[in-house]
Amino acid sequence: MAFDKKLFADICQEFTVTGEQLHEIAANFRYDLRKGLEDSAQSSLRMLKSYVGLPTGDEKGEYLALDFGGTNVRVLRIRLEGAGKFEVLKKVAKPLRVEGIYDFVGEGSTAEQMFDFIAELVDEAIEGDHTTHYLLGHTFSFPSEQTNLYNAKLIIWTKEFATAGVEGEVVNDLLKAALHRQGIDNVEPTAVINDTVAVLLAAAYKQPDTYIGSIYATGHNTCYLEPYADSADAPMILNLESGGFMKLAPNRFDVAFDEQSEKPGEQRLEKMVSGRYMGELFGMALAELLGEQGKKYGFTSIDMSNIVLAEDAAGVSKIVAAKTGHELATEDAESVRELVSKIIVRSARLVTASFVGIIWQLDSETKPRKQHIAVDGSVYEKMPLAKENIMRALSELLGEEAANIDTVLENGGSGLGAAIAAAMSQR
Ligand code: BGC
Repeated sequence: MAFDKKLFADICQEFTVTGEQLHEIAANFRYDLRKGLEDSAQSSLRMLKSYVGLPTGDEKGEYLALDFGGTNVRVLRIRLEGAGKFEVLKKVAKPLRVEGIYDFVGEGSTAEQMFDFIAELVDEAIEGDHTTHYLLGHTFSFPSEQTNLYNAKLIIWTKEFATAGVEGEVVNDLLKAALHRQGIDNVEPTAVINDTVAVLLAAAYKQPDTYIGSIYATGHNTCYLEPYADSADAPMILNLESGGFMKLAPNRFDVAFDEQSEKPGEQRLEKMVSGRYMGELFGMALAELLGEQGKKYGFTSIDMSNIVLAEDAAGVSKIVAAKTGHELATEDAESVRELVSKIIVRSARLVTASFVGIIWQLDSETKPRKQHIAVDGSVYEKMPLAKENIMRALSELLGEEAANIDTVLENGGSGLGAAIAAAMSQR
């Protein structure tokens, strides 16, 4: 069976962001940013305060870092050596869900079970040492309302997490109670930060001129250093929760997917761009082309990478056949590759529009300053077409001034950033 050509062209069109739309989205993002600074209720961006600015680069000492933001939880013991240097002394990691064995992220699980599991991992990282006093920095990568660096309340789960009893709670209190239950009273959680904030702290620890931090992975979000130029307030990093940006035109696949998601109506941008969702969107579109509308094939963003990188049409066909049971003709396999590319390119363009919205807001009167945008995450790092399309969209939006901006990979920033936050909590 060959794809219907008109249907294929229409679907590709639906996943295209034109130059004009790109400008409009960046301008709308900037508008929401400006509104959000006045009153977050008027903006689709949550603009959450982090109660931390940038590090000096001279932070020193040994800290624990808990990185909790996806299905893999990590605990690290890190020594900060100053001058932007550090050493990871110990690293332990475990998934929060192993299919058919245990699941701490589904509806059936409780906060206690989840945090007891995390406390056990902390115990592994300190090798059962219950005497040395450690400060712990906690990268908690979900929208949280903070009143200071310690106190962060989960507003709402994202990334399809559904564990009961965490929303509305102070996550460090849950962690502390779990540590106490296991006799680990020498570990003191002192700071909670979002993973975007961690990425920005980690990058700024190593090099100056970095004001924006972003995650482009399972989930998506960006933070920046708000200078509060016209007020007496000290500069502070704001977690935008940009995945919740709403001024976008979702296509029918975005809409249909959102309706079946854990949190319909939430995280519009994130559901159009991040790794957790791109495979699902691709699967929905492919189901239409295969005349099986509504069928779920379970494609992931890794399948999408493999499709783009496949040597030839037969390679694409093999990946598709493994999930759908359909053998594709050569022409259709090439069309599948084109569709996958469209979805990735759309994602990169939307993410870039949000970066440029921030850049415009930071330097509204002048040319954009020279700066690095720190990004971490598997989509940015590994997804073919992502990085090059970010650069392309930056040029499209900023023209020659794009030469002042580059994006840098801040690999592992979630752990390092948590240790830096713990160090900064002593100030
Ligand atoms: C969360 C953000 C987080 C992002 C990347 C989103 O789902 O809401 O807080 O920064 O994922 O992990």
